[in-house]
Amino acid sequence: NTKQPHTYTIAFSQCVGNDLWRKTMLDEIKTELSLHPDVKFIYTDARGSSSQQVLQVRKMLAQGIDLLIISPNEAQPLTTVVEETFNKGIPVVVIDRKTTSDSYTAYVGADNYQVGKMAGDYFVSKTKGNINVIEITGSPGSSPAIDREKGFSDGIKPASRIHITGKLNGAWTQETAEAELFKIKDQLGSVNAIFAHNDVMAAGARRVLKELKLTDSIFIMGVDALPGAGGGLEMIANKAINASALYPTGGKEAVQTAFRILNNENIEKVNILQSLIIDSTNVELMTMQWDRISSQQKDIERQQVLLEEQRKIYKDQATILNTVIIT
Ligand code: FRU
Repeated sequence: NTKQPHTYTIAFSQCVGNDLWRKTMLDEIKTELSLHPDVKFIYTDARGSSSQQVLQVRKMLAQGIDLLIISPNEAQPLTTVVEETFNKGIPVVVIDRKTTSDSYTAYVGADNYQVGKMAGDYFVSKTKGNINVIEITGSPGSSPAIDREKGFSDGIKPASRIHITGKLNGAWTQETAEAELFKIKDQLGSVNAIFAHNDVMAAGARRVLKELKLTDSIFIMGVDALPGAGGGLEMIANKAINASALYPTGGKEAVQTAFRILNNENIEKVNILQSLIIDSTNVELMTMQWDRISSQQKDIERQQVLLEEQRKIYKDQATILNTVIIT
């Protein structure tokens, strides 16, 4: 590749952009990209539609891009277009959700089987006696839902006293999770625990249980453990949910991987980010760490603004000098 780094166009195809987790991912991506001010960044949001996402990727390919970062809405429907991109020689960094194929340059994200397995292990260690669990899954065609479901099932397997008595498709959203739970509200009296594939669906479960006055008795666990207002860490601290598995967005790491690829550096094909169970025992520590990181991030941003101002002043002075010399 003979292009200079400053001419690169990086495209990011997001499957759905309006929730806190994905806003955090985009923020991370933009922050990391701000270290490469000359890169052209194209962003599309498929709003949860796989067919829309395929069209958006095709459009970006037609525009001409140097690298694609993609979080595929559903695995199967996005496989062909990702394969096509990769086979054209355009590097593809798959983030968070996967396709069904190995035709991509790098994957960045946590291991969702492991996330589900850790949750299952946690249920085994934190509960006693006969436990009836409702599992609220993400959209069944998306890879994290498939992998978390399998991992959770394997995690609870050693404890035959834990039974999954119901599985609901919460489609990753609070509204759907609530609607599905209301449909089975008469069964909820015999339920001891809920495992939701993300924290927004866990929040939906908490709301429904509160309305049915079942709140205190049912253990709720989610996934994501986001910092900030409305995030999972806050819900754990407020005792709205009992626990969550940290699921890093990988935004920063995806951009770092992208630049390594563009600079022809060696990369690992599969880059697994660490997950961790958060509950009342470590939520305070996690929140403190996030506060520190975000205050450092603000310092960096302030310094970038100052640097930019200095650069402008320098440019203006150079122009004046040139003008003086020429005239
Ligand atoms: C956000 C989200 C997260 C979940 C991830 C799985 O859109 O639903 O809550 O962990 O997607 O891909």
